[in-house]
Amino acid sequence: MNIDQLVEAGRVHRRVYLDPDIFDLELKKLFSVAWIYVGHESQVPNPGDYYCTEIACQPVIMTRNVDNSIHVLFNRCGHRGAKVVSDESGNSDIFTCCYHGWSYSNDGKLIAVPQPRGYEKNSVKIGDPAFGMAVVPRFESYRGFVFASLSPTGPSLNKFLGSITKSFDDLIDRAPGGDIVVQGGVARHLYRGNWKLIFENLCDGLHPNCVHKSSIEAAENQDDSVFSDGAGEIGVRQMRQNGVPWSFWEESVGLWAFPYGHSYLGDYHDDEKLIIERKNPFFKAYYSALKKAKGKNKAEKILSIARWNTNVFPTISFMSQFRQLRVIRPLSVDKTEVLGFCFRLKGAPEAMFHDTIRFANITNAVASPVLTDDLETYDRIRRGLEAQGNDWISTGRGMGKDTEEERGVLRAENGLSELHIRNMFNVWLSYLSK
Ligand SMILES: [Fe+2]
Repeated sequence: MNIDQLVEAGRVHRRVYLDPDIFDLELKKLFSVAWIYVGHESQVPNPGDYYCTEIACQPVIMTRNVDNSIHVLFNRCGHRGAKVVSDESGNSDIFTCCYHGWSYSNDGKLIAVPQPRGYEKNSVKIGDPAFGMAVVPRFESYRGFVFASLSPTGPSLNKFLGSITKSFDDLIDRAPGGDIVVQGGVARHLYRGNWKLIFENLCDGLHPNCVHKSSIEAAENQDDSVFSDGAGEIGVRQMRQNGVPWSFWEESVGLWAFPYGHSYLGDYHDDEKLIIERKNPFFKAYYSALKKAKGKNKAEKILSIARWNTNVFPTISFMSQFRQLRVIRPLSVDKTEVLGFCFRLKGAPEAMFHDTIRFANITNAVASPVLTDDLETYDRIRRGLEAQGNDWISTGRGMGKDTEEERGVLRAENGLSELHIRNMFNVWLSYLSK
């Protein structure tokens, strides 16, 4: 069976989640080609700061050089190939390989080798790029969000992101001080299942009332007095929000799909009652800081947007309204690592950041009563798909009822559609079949 036969209108073959050969093809033709999220510039604020991550299962490092420029390098020694930097983040003027002591500057240039005379016949020269930590072919930033591509050619980052940039704008523009920073550590977990499952799940409006039933019921049974002091209340609110009836998802929630596989799920009514943030105790102080910084009209406009999950295919999903970002890192066909980050809005009340951390604990951390149910579901999908009897997985909810809102941007019939999954697989196929 060739790759074109795995995706059909309204269904995909189960091999796309199970086959290690397909995973290898994804690394080569998708993750080594598309723009992959590396990190936020605020993770390397000072010269010498670095942050290590992966692109297509290859170790890379984002560095801040002495001249303040940001670089993305392969984390590999130019001598015998060892991974040079092993800590996930830190600060150092020099990166020294543990094996034979070759040393590099923050932009990857070879600056010193021990016993250099021994390499004379190999023509190892200080500063020679052939012996440096190689620079990743392309890297660019959108308002502080750094992406890189292992392909020297292809669309620019701007073209790749298209109008999904509005979700990034929505996150950044909420900061009264005009900027955001990553803070509060990382909520990290691993799940047994294919990496595509989380992208399907995060814009899936139908599942909360099934998968998250136990946490919804627990929150509904909670006494409302929990709202009086602010402690823990975002969790209860969010879990109750998950329990809104399916009619709400049909009438008040929209789902949009974009070129290159991106999507977002959100409220399209601009109804202040639907915007969970306004119910928070710190909202008054935050709103007045935002109004002071941006003016009343702009502040109102910023707050009238309620984007929930934005998927930037194939590596991140973020919640601008709740200041959360998940990085999805494929490890193998049935193993995926997810890293959850929080953003602090500059100029916002301290209580808002505390709320951001609470929100992360309730949705993105391993002790979350919400996340655990999603992870159980991914595991059951992995097991269930191994069963024979039906090779096909349905992706057809809402099919044929999408409308083109702007060029290439589709709006689903409602927030219960599977448009984002169909869109993802169409794009997936176009990468893999090239
Ligand atoms: Fe969920």
